[in-house]
Amino acid sequence: MYLSDHDGAEQAALALTNHIISRINAFKPTQMKKFVLCLPTGSTPLPVYEELVRRFKLGDVSFEHVITFNLDEYVGLKPCHKQSYAYFMEENLDIPSSQTHLLPSSPIDPHKTHQDSCAAYESLITSLGGIHLLFLGIGENGHVAFNEPASSMSSRTRMVKLDQGTREINARFFGKEQVPTHALTMGIANILEAQEIIVLATGERKSNALKEALEGGINHLCPASVLQMHEKVSIYTDNTAIKGLKESTINYLKSQDPSSSTPRLKDTTDKNKRPFQGRGLLRGTSFSWVSSPSTPIEEDKPLFWSRPPSPSKSLAVDVKVEMIVGQGIHSPLNSPHDDQQQVKIPDKEQKTGIKPQTLLAKDVNSLDQEETQKEADDQGPSV
Ligand code: GLP
Repeated sequence: MYLSDHDGAEQAALALTNHIISRINAFKPTQMKKFVLCLPTGSTPLPVYEELVRRFKLGDVSFEHVITFNLDEYVGLKPCHKQSYAYFMEENLDIPSSQTHLLPSSPIDPHKTHQDSCAAYESLITSLGGIHLLFLGIGENGHVAFNEPASSMSSRTRMVKLDQGTREINARFFGKEQVPTHALTMGIANILEAQEIIVLATGERKSNALKEALEGGINHLCPASVLQMHEKVSIYTDNTAIKGLKESTINYLKSQDPSSSTPRLKDTTDKNKRPFQGRGLLRGTSFSWVSSPSTPIEEDKPLFWSRPPSPSKSLAVDVKVEMIVGQGIHSPLNSPHDDQQQVKIPDKEQKTGIKPQTLLAKDVNSLDQEETQKEADDQGPSV
């Protein structure tokens, strides 16, 4: 674990932004090799998103081959609700919807459950080879994403009931409206599976949680303490957030090298690391699927599709379930609900100049064909 402390919150945010940019640039993402970035919401990351947009405009970083996943979302808020995290991301980062994924605040397919949405979300992340870089905030009560105190340290993506304290703290955003009682969140196990984690914790109100997380034992009453279990974590703080920490802790963590550990997933395309996978043929089109560890398997009818949706309209209509996984809740294409179809999505290209990417599924399909042939040669009959 590495600690990067700064005089102020702004400086900490700029340093963390540089970390994100340097990781994306060092990875050299391409059409065939996407960089998978996981993102938080809240007020702490706002200067990071502002700086990322500024640096994008300067040409310091491209998001063309970056795929994002958000950590959590309130249950029941439509994407057009100003406090939904879908709206937050549109407002603050504005990466094209084809590259942005959020847990849906209500199941996209009315015949599915929240649990189905969570499993599909995990499955999509797995199919992309996992998360390369996960950017995390810490709640005042030590929560990470919406994993509240006393969450299971092995928890996976699921619906949770929000802690009363969290609802009170977040009430500042909601005015007179009630804060939702439930949310969907990636679990603690999912967070730990990321290759690298970066945390932004600034301001005095985070000092207790930070002390518990870094100096307390690993304890489910402070979910952020589980960061002690990950081998590649960098924590960006300011001098008010670290004021409860012992000097020896600060000095030791500052002396660590932020890039010294080896990535957790060395070969993200390794078939053996995918929990369940298979191939099939649907109306003449070959496809691959991957399930998450929490996904039940039905041999003849895999429930969750790992691949982003095809841009081809006919396939998208034929394979409805594929659309659930593919584009998050932003896209009018993947929402069967009329009210969601009418959500106005701001013109991204106009705001940031980032061009929407629509080739991902095509590329994956062509990769599939190559993989299908190679795997058939390597492994014999398919599942
Ligand atoms: C929210 C989010 C978290 C976030 C945290 C801190 O409720 N679910 O992902 O990290 O609380 O938010 P803030 O930065 O506003 O303190």
